[in-house]
Amino acid sequence: MSSPSVTHYPRMIKLKDGSEVLVRFMEQGDRDRLLEFFRGFPEEERDLLREDITRPEAIDTRVRALGRGRLVSLITEAEGRIVGDATLQRRPMNWLRHVAEVHVVVDRGYRRVGLAYRLLYELFDLAREEGIETLLAEMMSDQGAAINLFERLGFKREAVFRKLVKDLHGRKHDLVIMTRDLTERGKRRPSWLW
Ligand SMILES: CC(C)(COP(=O)(O)OP(=O)(O)OC[C@H]1O[C@@H](n2cnc3c(N)ncnc32)[C@H](O)[C@@H]1OP(=O)(O)O)[C@@H](O)C(=O)NCCC(=O)NCCS
Repeated sequence: MSSPSVTHYPRMIKLKDGSEVLVRFMEQGDRDRLLEFFRGFPEEERDLLREDITRPEAIDTRVRALGRGRLVSLITEAEGRIVGDATLQRRPMNWLRHVAEVHVVVDRGYRRVGLAYRLLYELFDLAREEGIETLLAEMMSDQGAAINLFERLGFKREAVFRKLVKDLHGRKHDLVIMTRDLTERGKRRPSWLW
């Protein structure tokens, strides 16, 4: 993907608590730092994520998608390390050419200060520039924080597939599919956002 917003990053953003962090595009050289970031998540959280992101192969797949222009990733840095990651990924299917999938993860030490909200909001703009009309988010029904976050951003629950997906330990969970129509303008940006 390529968009006019390329010149928009890197840049510092202010979070709800007044702290400032750097937001920039992921680069191929971020592989090892991303692995370090993902490996810092507690097992109970990694267990619920779509793939085992602590495996180097998962990051390599991501780096390849980046190279093919199918992925946009906004990385957040603070104190010299990665503390947040939000991705926008297109699927290589003709009938989904106007759709992109979003994912976001934030370091435990940087939560509840609006970082995920802000990163996803930034991805909305990048997606619109790429001609994306609908965003898709998939999560387990147990990921209550993520469901609240996406609802706050105007995503709607479209479907729940009961006991469809398995966590890393093989336990089955409900899969929730949410979408956000980007052709509709959402609520006004919260005052602390800019
Ligand atoms: C879900 C996650 C990304 C939220 O990150 P965050 O930066 O803390 O979220 P924000 O501070 O931007 O929160 C925005 C809103 O989301 C909701 N939310 C976020 N965390 C929440 C929590 N723990 N419980 C309930 N609601 C929560 C709230 O509505 C919040 O607004 P508020 O703080 O004004 O009430 C983070 O908890 C995380 O990385 N979890 C593990 C990975 C995951 O589940 N990712 C989603 C898969 S796509």
